[in-house]
Amino acid sequence: MFDETSTFSFPTRIHFGCGAIKQLPSCLDETGVRKPLIVTDPGLRATPVLNSVVSVLKEAQIPHEVFADVHANPIEEDVLGSAELYKTAACDGAIGLGGGSPLDVSKAVVVMARHQGALTELEWQAGGMDRMAGPYDPIIAIPTTAGTGSEVGRSSVITSHKLGRKIIIFSPWLMPMRAILDPQLTVGLPPSLTAATGMDAFTHCLESLTCPTFHPICDAIAIHGLELVIRFLERATRDGKDIEARGNMQVAATMGAIAFQKDLGATHSLAHPLSTEFGLNHGLANALCLPAVMRFNLEPAASHYVRLAALFGVAAQQMAEKEAAARSVREVESMIERLGITRGLRNYGVPKESLAPLSLKAFEDSCHRTNIRACTQGDLLKLYEESW
Ligand SMILES: [Fe+2]
Repeated sequence: MFDETSTFSFPTRIHFGCGAIKQLPSCLDETGVRKPLIVTDPGLRATPVLNSVVSVLKEAQIPHEVFADVHANPIEEDVLGSAELYKTAACDGAIGLGGGSPLDVSKAVVVMARHQGALTELEWQAGGMDRMAGPYDPIIAIPTTAGTGSEVGRSSVITSHKLGRKIIIFSPWLMPMRAILDPQLTVGLPPSLTAATGMDAFTHCLESLTCPTFHPICDAIAIHGLELVIRFLERATRDGKDIEARGNMQVAATMGAIAFQKDLGATHSLAHPLSTEFGLNHGLANALCLPAVMRFNLEPAASHYVRLAALFGVAAQQMAEKEAAARSVREVESMIERLGITRGLRNYGVPKESLAPLSLKAFEDSCHRTNIRACTQGDLLKLYEESW
């Protein structure tokens, strides 16, 4: 028992609440940023969200630049383009504004503003973490979705067309120094994206809870995150102006990402190639694959799934473990349906003959290595088929 040493840390300072965006000037001041680059996407350019952030900066007379061309699944060119602007405009800090994609690019931009070589050299799996020479300029994260939790994460996921897949860059230097969670910034998120991103948060909590690494602090955070998603995601999806639901979903997303410091599982390995190859939203891809993975994990993860069933209000303690665990899968499936997500990869332009090549890419992805049940490439193919 307790033979291995575990390291726990939760260092990001988070400002949470309606109007928290007004803390941005003091966050910049405290972190020594005089001229930030706002990194966001074209979808937000046309909304009041970008305006509200820009007006806070203007009011405080803080000079800034805006890069608003980040793709929905960010590509290397987004990083290079924003890094170029960052350098020519002599910026000294990045503000990631939006969903996980702009947040991930804002992390990579401060790195590439200094790194002389290619971004792909810094890929975590290829030992890139050792080549990262931080500390880099400060990053301030302002999420406008409630899902990825990238605001408290130390990784950035970028698609490299040269390599034909997503690469992960990972380093403690990538952790934002401040996160601003203002529920009012998420009210404009449409129901389908609210549901999809919320399912990403749910998957983070569940995969981290069930992965076999010893981290009881992350486990407790994951369980509370699951409870919040179960209570509030349907409400936030039904009524985007429900601030209580929006705020609790932001908290759940942050908790999910703190929890998955522990690790993730096979659902994420299946989801990643679906985004790179077919452009599926990451949270949606997770939602479509999660039930099959839960069934695959049913035996080794049974005790966790019994707790999950109880969070759904099932009288799990009065049932046999196997029965309660199986019931939790059905509860997740019906939640996905109530969120208006149509099940089945076939409904999203994923042809059946693509499943075998997808399974090769999924097997290359590192997340499944910490799945509670070991996966072969054949297992991942079966999971795709079951999700099809
Ligand atoms: Fe995720």
